[in-house]
Amino acid sequence: MLKIDGESYHVDEWTNVPASILAFLPRKLHLQPSHPVSITRQVIEKSFPRPIYTHYNEISPIVSVAQNFDSLGFPADHPGRSRTDTYYINKDTVLRTHTSAHEADIFHGNQSEGYTISADVYRRDAIDRSHYPVFHQMEGARMWDRRKVAGGDVAKAVWADLGQLPKHDLEVEDSNPTIHPERNPLQAEYHSTEEVEAIAAHLKRTLERVVVYLFSKAQKAAVAVGNTDTSTTEPLKVRWVEAYFPFTSPSWELEVFWQGDWLEVLGCGVSKQELHINAGVPDQLGWAFGVGLERVAMILFSIPDIRLFWSKDQRFLSQFASMDQINTYVPFSKHPACYKDVSFWLRSSSSSAGEGLRANAQDFHENDFMEIVRDVGGDLVEDVKLTDEFVHPMSGRKSLCYRINYRSLERTLRNQEANQLQKKVEEHLVNKLGVKLR
Ligand code: DAH
Repeated sequence: MLKIDGESYHVDEWTNVPASILAFLPRKLHLQPSHPVSITRQVIEKSFPRPIYTHYNEISPIVSVAQNFDSLGFPADHPGRSRTDTYYINKDTVLRTHTSAHEADIFHGNQSEGYTISADVYRRDAIDRSHYPVFHQMEGARMWDRRKVAGGDVAKAVWADLGQLPKHDLEVEDSNPTIHPERNPLQAEYHSTEEVEAIAAHLKRTLERVVVYLFSKAQKAAVAVGNTDTSTTEPLKVRWVEAYFPFTSPSWELEVFWQGDWLEVLGCGVSKQELHINAGVPDQLGWAFGVGLERVAMILFSIPDIRLFWSKDQRFLSQFASMDQINTYVPFSKHPACYKDVSFWLRSSSSSAGEGLRANAQDFHENDFMEIVRDVGGDLVEDVKLTDEFVHPMSGRKSLCYRINYRSLERTLRNQEANQLQKKVEEHLVNKLGVKLR
């Protein structure tokens, strides 16, 4: 049994969520008043005014596999469903991997014409300055109902609503057709071209406004501290690129030109009609989007490492005030890095069954290694890189070498402390993954 927030869940062979991850559930950074994740949420919510949009911000991260994957049309063999990528509480229950897990339920509840939901999401992943097993997303959607719009003319109603949205002077590159038969198809069974053109235009204008608002604040904050990078002083540039999601078609990503690179900020598209049909609202159609809040917050406040969001250090937390005052983060002194290597052999994939359930070259997944490192080192690990990999020509066994970079954001880590952590990582590797250290 696993007890989480007073509820009991049975465990089974799918269970893989460690206590160290469950400890994040009560943190709710997106609701801490002057936390940068929460400020970012509030800035984006500004573009989704009530009463058209309801803002849901307190939905539990514990969802069913049906909510997280099935309801959204994820195929049975989608890699996102695997235990190496997702935290399972048991076979039927996961920590949501995205806020889209709630789309079907909110469509079904049908409380308003649109909504946003902001929440913590959980993914097993690599370790570096922009990946953390818990992060926050905001998802939003806007729906129109064929039975409610004037004359049943959705396209006309959408264009009229678009006319109400303020314009902006952003430079937008949008070179693809709204609909492309192979790359970005119309749901021809359910939607007309006119409807999708209108919905796509409404979607794009809405999200472009979000970006203008966010990035002009980011530019202002950067300029205020003397950053003269051209992307902070020149007019903002964005572009739309075609994308694929199992639950939208056509689909896009919005990219922003920021400090020399095109940066993907959000995914979106015209909702799959099956979602509305299965949610019991077949006359509804519209758009949806999802954005990662840490990624935006890192830009907005110039925060260099995703671990900082989880810091309880007042030197970090006290730097942020409210959405009316976006300032650039001032790093406290950078402490030295401490690199440690670990090399090990995996079992050869042809090894006899007698070797048991040990990690062989086929079932070894890097995320299992990452999780051991996180479990032992927590926020003292800055990043982990594969530095060498080879297969022994005679035995066929595979060898891997990873370099772990231990560095505290808050204090100087002693070499002895890093050695102790490294020793523990090695022990866990042997005991949990059954690898042979070199
Ligand atoms: N759920 C997607 C993700 O986690 C983000 C997303 C993309 C949400 C498109 C949407 C959408 O609602 O329409 O990567």
